[in-house]
Amino acid sequence: MRILITGGHGQVGQALVAELQSQHSIVAPDRSTIDIGNTGATQQIIELKPDLVIHAAAFTNVDACAREPDRALLINGLGTKHVALACHRLGIPMVYISTNEVFDGEAQRPYLEFDVTRPINPYAYSKWVGEQVVQQLVSSFYIVRVAWVFGGSRNFVRTMLRLGQERQELAVVDDELGNPTYAPDIAAAIRQLIKHPAYGVYHFVNEGYCSRYDFAREIFQRSGLTRIVVDPIKLADYQRDSTPPRYGVLRNFVGATDLGIRLRPWQDALQVFLEEIQSGSAR
Ligand SMILES: NC(=O)c1ccc[n+]([C@@H]2O[C@H](COP(=O)([O-])OP(=O)(O)OC[C@H]3O[C@@H](n4cnc5c(N)ncnc54)[C@H](OP(=O)(O)O)[C@@H]3O)[C@@H](O)[C@H]2O)c1
Repeated sequence: MRILITGGHGQVGQALVAELQSQHSIVAPDRSTIDIGNTGATQQIIELKPDLVIHAAAFTNVDACAREPDRALLINGLGTKHVALACHRLGIPMVYISTNEVFDGEAQRPYLEFDVTRPINPYAYSKWVGEQVVQQLVSSFYIVRVAWVFGGSRNFVRTMLRLGQERQELAVVDDELGNPTYAPDIAAAIRQLIKHPAYGVYHFVNEGYCSRYDFAREIFQRSGLTRIVVDPIKLADYQRDSTPPRYGVLRNFVGATDLGIRLRPWQDALQVFLEEIQSGSAR
């Protein structure tokens, strides 16, 4: 298949290119070639004649989205509409990478693919708008929600490793929960998913979940950074521009039950990423 990947230079995009390039012909234009926020992006995608589009590009800095909600809506909402329109006109399937943040975080159990969404911040709202336009315009869509992605050069793991070198003590939130998820595991799951015309909503997260505090401690412990003292603090006491869902935990029910697509436990994936960083082979 000829697959067009938007955001192909981002964390998930790079992992997708690496995972799919041996079996498929990949086109991964960067933002300077196709800016999805431009109306002309639709025609540019059509002219590249893909058989499938994986839309991973997004304005992903959640705090910046809170400061610039219209820009978030332009790139993540309208930008997704521009991509979806191209898929609609070409009559091809589309994979839209979405987020755990489409939920409000008030649930008492991990969110299933069928649960009602209610975004509570501008980033989440813009990604939710993306989900709506995909469902309205593309008949053969896969919406793949992911969470707490690590695997590239900018993510929570990298930040903790840097702070772990620089500081003696660090305060980390212990009442925000999610599923740490390794970008190459998302890519491997999507490679399996697109073999099936089983369109719909999926939650592709590594197995298990934790708080940011637990995640930080696991990173430090597995990297031998045991000197640093990690203090638990509450989300309400952490000043930032965006408010994440407190309980942003997803459960991969549909992919696992229907198609046998399961992602390994997050601790195992973290170990692989840390070893890649250590050996210098991480992206
Ligand atoms: N990271 C997470 O923890 C997380 C969690 C849940 C869901 N997600 C979703 O997963 C997907 C991939 O995230 P990621 O972590 O791979 O993000 P990332 O590393 O920030 O990559 C995003 C990519 O989108 C590109 N992009 C941004 N604006 C664009 C525009 N106007 N036109 C074309 N390309 C544009 C960026 O290009 P530049 O490099 O030029 O800016 C970058 O290559 C996103 O849809 C995100 O919403 C991520």
